[in-house]
Amino acid sequence: MTPRPVPVIIDCDTGVDDAIALLFAVRHPGLDLRAVSCVAGNTDVDQVVRNTLTVLEQAGAPDVPVARGAARPLLEPLRTAHHVHGEDGMGDLGLPAPTRRAVDVDAVTLLHREILACDRPVTLVPTAPLTNIALLLRIHPEVTRNIERIVFMGGAVGTGNATPVAEFNVWHDPEAAAVLLTARVPITMYGLDVFERVLVPEADVRRLCGREEPGARLAGRLLSHRYPVTGDDVPFGGLGDGGTVCAVADPEGLTTHRLPVEVNLAPGPARGQTVVDRRPRPGEAELHGEAREQTLVDVALDIDAERYVRLYLATVEGTGDGA
Ligand code: BDR
Ligand code: CA
Repeated sequence: MTPRPVPVIIDCDTGVDDAIALLFAVRHPGLDLRAVSCVAGNTDVDQVVRNTLTVLEQAGAPDVPVARGAARPLLEPLRTAHHVHGEDGMGDLGLPAPTRRAVDVDAVTLLHREILACDRPVTLVPTAPLTNIALLLRIHPEVTRNIERIVFMGGAVGTGNATPVAEFNVWHDPEAAAVLLTARVPITMYGLDVFERVLVPEADVRRLCGREEPGARLAGRLLSHRYPVTGDDVPFGGLGDGGTVCAVADPEGLTTHRLPVEVNLAPGPARGQTVVDRRPRPGEAELHGEAREQTLVDVALDIDAERYVRLYLATVEGTGDGA
């Protein structure tokens, strides 16, 4: 018997690679995308909503409810990433405006409603700053009773991108990321350590670009996107946030370790860093009674990148299960 699809809700800041993730989520038969909530991050929240609606229309999934969420982080100002995602936040591809609008409730209300209305526990997949999720957990803490797990793109064990040690989604709203870690549901951290490793080869990207079907062609155009500022220095074809959703559809491709994680909230050069404790034994701090309360998180440390590239292409092109 075919297993029932996993009910999934994506919280995003579309975003070139959020769009890549959405195209996969609506097409994978093992996923049931119930709703999409939008938050400010890569661009302002109204543009995120427009981009998200456009992607869903191009992907042939116009009925998935989309809601507008937080317009800025809890404490920090809005700090967009147009230098990566272009002026419109989605690669400046000249895509048509959406014909549909967001639902008339805010993102936190939609998340609350959809999570509790689902007949099975939902997998929540934030691929953006965690502002909406923090507000949800504080306003409606009862949602955790129907959340299977949270698989979020954010953080880094090693090198950051927004700063030498902080990854963009966590750096953008560190307090929100710290609230996420209090959720008391299983959490998987799909951080930069694996995020940057899943690259679609150029020949496959070109093939996608030549497809007539709008969703597959859009995937190709998004994967061709080069950073407007750094240009050719950065390899194109990265699945980015798309890899996070691949890891929900096919968890076997991801190697995780359950490790203590804490978000650095102190002002200064390490603010927004995800401090991951990989030590094999307690150190002097613990021996001197300075143990810290930390959440155990399934941290992604290794990835079968080729497996996810195959899965992504097969799903978006509709040619099989990619296994
Ligand atoms: C994250 O930041 C955003 O620019 C991407 O969409 C991704 O979610 C990577 O640090
Ligand atoms: Ca994102």
